[in-house]
Amino acid sequence: MSSIKVALLGFGTVGSGVYELINHEQKRLRELIGRPVQIVAVLINDERKQRDIDQDILVTSNIDDVLAQEVDVVVEAIVGVEPAYTYLTKAIHQGCHVVTANKEMFAYKGFELRKQANEQRVEVYYEAAVAGAIPIISTLRDVFKVNRVARLEAILNGTTNYILTEMRENGTSLEAALKTAQAQGYAESDPTNDVEGYDALYKLVILSELLLGKQVNCTTVEREGIKEVNLESIKRASKRNHRIKHVAKLAFEGDKLQLYIRPLEVDEDHPLFAVEGVDNAVVVTGNYVGQLKFEGPGAGKFPTASVMVDDLVDIMQQDQRAVSPVVR
Ligand SMILES: NC(=O)c1ccc[n+]([C@@H]2O[C@H](COP(=O)([O-])OP(=O)(O)OC[C@H]3O[C@@H](n4cnc5c(N)ncnc54)[C@H](OP(=O)(O)O)[C@@H]3O)[C@@H](O)[C@H]2O)c1
Repeated sequence: MSSIKVALLGFGTVGSGVYELINHEQKRLRELIGRPVQIVAVLINDERKQRDIDQDILVTSNIDDVLAQEVDVVVEAIVGVEPAYTYLTKAIHQGCHVVTANKEMFAYKGFELRKQANEQRVEVYYEAAVAGAIPIISTLRDVFKVNRVARLEAILNGTTNYILTEMRENGTSLEAALKTAQAQGYAESDPTNDVEGYDALYKLVILSELLLGKQVNCTTVEREGIKEVNLESIKRASKRNHRIKHVAKLAFEGDKLQLYIRPLEVDEDHPLFAVEGVDNAVVVTGNYVGQLKFEGPGAGKFPTASVMVDDLVDIMQQDQRAVSPVVR
């Protein structure tokens, strides 16, 4: 029985998590897909770094060598728009399915990538790019078919939610709370993307494109980070029994689309009021289902890696159904 050949692009926090999970869950994957899953190549940037990768697997910084391995699925977890977009374009044109966690690349190029994938009859899955382990992409894609989403409100960045929680609970300054977040491994050494709201913006753009069915330009989304939030404003909100949350929102006011990410004061009846610490949450209101709330870890090695492996399973199960339709 032939194996499903997988190439990993990136072997950092997420890529190494995917590697470990695929190796650890071989038996389960075989049960789910009916074929073994084999990692045939790993693409990295720095070939001198020591890595715990099986000797039979090609480790290289050359994408052409990776794609020469007759790859079925490319699982991408590198950082930034380029070279990730160029690499995935090549993979798609070679007939590979794609799974990605790269939110920045997907916010700018996801629409185009999905179009190319459609033309080439391959799949692009990107659940891990938005809100980590929360299954919001598959829910919006597969479940919200008849329902029209009238509004989406979300906390899409665990670092800023952690900082705002720390400031309110412990009276810590934003700078001190950020240092704690970095010490705990929740924030990057360069926290600009989180604190200034870019990370949440990328995720909101990806969700918006899925909901609106059209390309959304990142520069058209209003973005305000949490830098202007101080202890005074948090205390004033607390006195009213309100909390300040960094909210990403998509809503329609009549025909007008509202799309923004900004700190907002929410009252205790608001569904995002009780979302604390590094958790993410997405609240979707559909015209028939009403309000649904999803909450959980928005990042982390194994939550993110497991969602990517689930995407891989979904794609291969679909692929198999297309090749051998079920006879009833
Ligand atoms: N960390 C999370 O919890 C999380 C959650 C959801 C989504 N994501 C997304 O997942 C992606 C990966 O995140 P991460 O935390 O795993 O990052 P990371 O730990 O910094 O790892 C990045 C990996 O990409 C490789 N890489 C960077 N530039 C490259 C290039 N030009 N060519 C080939 N390889 C290159 C690096 O190679 P070297 O090892 O040689 O340096 C490294 O292995 C990002 O797009 C991130 O936004 C992360």
